[in-house]
Amino acid sequence: MTDLVLITDDGPVRTIRMTRPDKKNALTMAMYDAMAEGIETAPKANIRCLLIGGAPVVFCAGNDIGDFLQAAMGGGLGAPILRFLYALARSDTPLVAAVQGNAVGVGTTMLMHCDHVVASTEARLSTPFVSLGLVPEAASSLIAPRLMGHARAFSMLVMGKPLNAAEAKDAGIVNTIVAPDAVEAEAMKAAQHIAILPPQAVTASRRLMRGTPEEIVARIDAEADQFKERLKSAEAQAAFTAFMTRKR
Ligand code: COA
Repeated sequence: MTDLVLITDDGPVRTIRMTRPDKKNALTMAMYDAMAEGIETAPKANIRCLLIGGAPVVFCAGNDIGDFLQAAMGGGLGAPILRFLYALARSDTPLVAAVQGNAVGVGTTMLMHCDHVVASTEARLSTPFVSLGLVPEAASSLIAPRLMGHARAFSMLVMGKPLNAAEAKDAGIVNTIVAPDAVEAEAMKAAQHIAILPPQAVTASRRLMRGTPEEIVARIDAEADQFKERLKSAEAQAAFTAFMTRKR
C-alpha cells in the first residue's frame, strides 16, 4: 500500500492519480503496484473508463532513478514495473490521461497505451532512454513507430528529442490541448463521455482497433530483457549516478 497513488471512483470513472510532487511523480515500486491494481480491478468495480493523472505541475518524471541505480547494483528490475505495463497492455477498460507539465520516460510511454490524452499547453513529453544508457520500454519500440513513423519515433526514442504539446498531438499521442487549468476537467469530460457509451460495443471496438495484447506483451518482455542488461552497463550506471549527485 502507498499513499503516493490515489484511486478515486466517481460513478463509472476511476481516477488513478500519481501524488509524489516533491519527486515530480517519479514512480516507485509501490506506486507501480498501486497503479496496476487500479487498472486490474476496474472491471469488477464496474468501472467503464480509467483516468490517469498527476499532480498539478507535473505528470510523471518516469521511473525513480534511485531504484534504477539499485537495480543496476543487483536488485533486479522489479516485478511491479512489469505488472503495471502488462495491466496497461491487457486492460479492456478504456484509458484517458490528463497530462500537465513534464512526462518523462514511462510517464510518456504509458500515454501510448491510452485511448484519449488531454495535454496542457505547457506539457512536455520526453523519453531520454538512450542518453541514460537504456532502451525504450512499455512496448514503445513497437507502438511509437506505428503512431508516428520510424523517423519521428527514432528522433524521440533514440535521439531523445522532447515533444511539446503541439508536437505530441501531431505525432498522434495527444488528442486535445487545453490551458493548464482546464486539463483535469477536459480529461474528465472525455472519460465520462466514454463511460456512458454502450460498454460491450466499446470493448469490442477497442479490441478490434488494438489487436491482440499478446503482441504488445511480447514486445514489453523483449524490451525488458535488454533493459535489464542495459541497467548493469557502465553507461547506465554513470548516467544514474550523475543525475542523483548533480549539483543545482
Ligand atoms: N527519479 C528520482 N528522483 C527524481 C526523478 C526521478 N526520475 N525525477 C525527479 N526527481 C527528484 C529530483 O532528484 C529532485 O529531488 P530533490 O528535491 O530531493 O533533489 C526532485 O525530484 C525535483 O526534481 P528537479 O529535477 O529539481 O525538478 P525540475 O522541475 O527542475 O525538473 C524533471 C523536472 C522531470 C525535468 C527532472 O527532474 C528530470 O529530468 N528528472 C529525471 C527524469 C528521468 O530521466 N527519468 C527516467 C526516464 S527513463
